[in-house]
Amino acid sequence: MNIMSKNVIEVNNVTMRFNMSKENLDSLKEYFIKLVKRQLFFEQFTALSNVSFNIEKGDVFGIVGFNGAGKSTILKVISGILQPSEGSVKIDGTIAPLIELGAGFDMELTARENVYLNGTVLGLSPDFIDTKYDEIIDFAELQDFQDVAVKNFSSGMLARLGFAIATVVTPDILIVDEILSVGDFLFQQKCENRISEMMKNGTTVIIVSHSIEQIEKLCNKVIWLEKGKVKMLGETKEVCDAYKSVTK
Ligand SMILES: Nc1ncnc2c1ncn2[C@@H]1O[C@H](COP(=O)(O)OP(=O)(O)O)[C@@H](O)[C@H]1O
Ligand SMILES: [Mg+2]
Repeated sequence: MNIMSKNVIEVNNVTMRFNMSKENLDSLKEYFIKLVKRQLFFEQFTALSNVSFNIEKGDVFGIVGFNGAGKSTILKVISGILQPSEGSVKIDGTIAPLIELGAGFDMELTARENVYLNGTVLGLSPDFIDTKYDEIIDFAELQDFQDVAVKNFSSGMLARLGFAIATVVTPDILIVDEILSVGDFLFQQKCENRISEMMKNGTTVIIVSHSIEQIEKLCNKVIWLEKGKVKMLGETKEVCDAYKSVTK
């Protein structure tokens, strides 16, 4: 990365292909026999092709596109969860990824245990989590459910807990995939307020939301992905207006 560049994320010609089994195998045994005999044929599916963009420090970067456009896949590549088939990603800073609901949670454990588990995964020490524990539970509004296994939680409760943990320390880069649309309206507002605070402190944010209003409200730059390709990249109004004109 160029020393003079303010880019905190550089996505360079990223292509992501998934292998998908062509056959409908009836059993796991049949699958392994074919695997051993090297008779398993895969069809490749290209979820992202040649995607490039830069994100600068302090940007609130929105990603829009229809289902299956590749939005979650690019977030996973940026977070390092997936390695791209081709191309590269450069990241400058710490990332808090909120990508899949409940990812990073052990469903059998309680909210309290998951705060420690998830916090540790995010690099926080148990002592530090002790000092932030009440704040996390309060923000997630789970005071009455601290010792309940999270498998009993609604998707809204999971989203609140995940967001509260991931944002207890201001990361350099916050990645939010759809989860803001899960909680209720008041919680969405609370999250938006916390994101706004982070933006003031220079955190870079990447947001995927199917609420175009949310993208318009929060983002300063937007990319529109269509079938794994960059359809449009630019200022929020320009991209959102074009996107809305095809979704109406
Ligand atoms: N692990 C995977 N294996 C095979 N195909 C996948 C995998 N993950 C995603 N895909 C496919 O890649 C495409 C893009 O998926 P995704 O990034 O989740 O889209 P979006 O988040 O925009 O709805 C979809 O067609 C999806 O089915
Ligand atoms: Mg998705």
